[in-house]
Amino acid sequence: MRLGILGSGSGSNMQAILDGVADGSIPAEIALVMSENPEAYILERAKKAGIPTAVIDCRGFKSKFPEEAQAETAAALKAAGVELVCLAGFMRLVRTPLLKAFPDRIINIHPALLPAFPGLQAWKQALDAGVPETGCTVHYVDGGMDTGPVILQNSVPVLPGDTPESLHARILEAEHRTYPEAIRMVAARLADK
Ligand code: GRF
Repeated sequence: MRLGILGSGSGSNMQAILDGVADGSIPAEIALVMSENPEAYILERAKKAGIPTAVIDCRGFKSKFPEEAQAETAAALKAAGVELVCLAGFMRLVRTPLLKAFPDRIINIHPALLPAFPGLQAWKQALDAGVPETGCTVHYVDGGMDTGPVILQNSVPVLPGDTPESLHARILEAEHRTYPEAIRMVAARLADK
């Protein structure tokens, strides 16, 4: 299965997926890594691994993912033969036409146990709410903000003395186990079809 990965930041989840591909535990290959942020470290990581990269042109739009850019992204992913799109720290809301181009084939990882704490800085939301545990969720993308059917979740404890940073680090560790496992599950579902 050919994966396309979209991310805006450090790309540690992309790295975890890449490691799983390399050791054979994920039955897939990464065909293309894309970011709307030309400075994002995720692009560096991909280049170091010899994976094709592309920058999504969202110039002039601070947080929106304009329709034209979505169409271009869909075209680039299709041209690379991508069968499953993985959002990994991608900071723009995916809607049509990208969603339409990959029905039920776009998944996302979120740093909380959805439906709790959707949106930004979910680890800080969990800390502020005083919950004893939080975690991460991989889910299908349906056009909403962190909505869509859940594929896999794992929880982590919130510990006394946690800061937003320490809690996010613990969640990220769980993400790096959860995303590869979720991709294996989706690959198995697609192979069954
Ligand atoms: C992760 O916590 C992810 O869940 C969130 O943004 C962070 C991205 O980290 N949406 P990375 O770029 O994969 O290191």
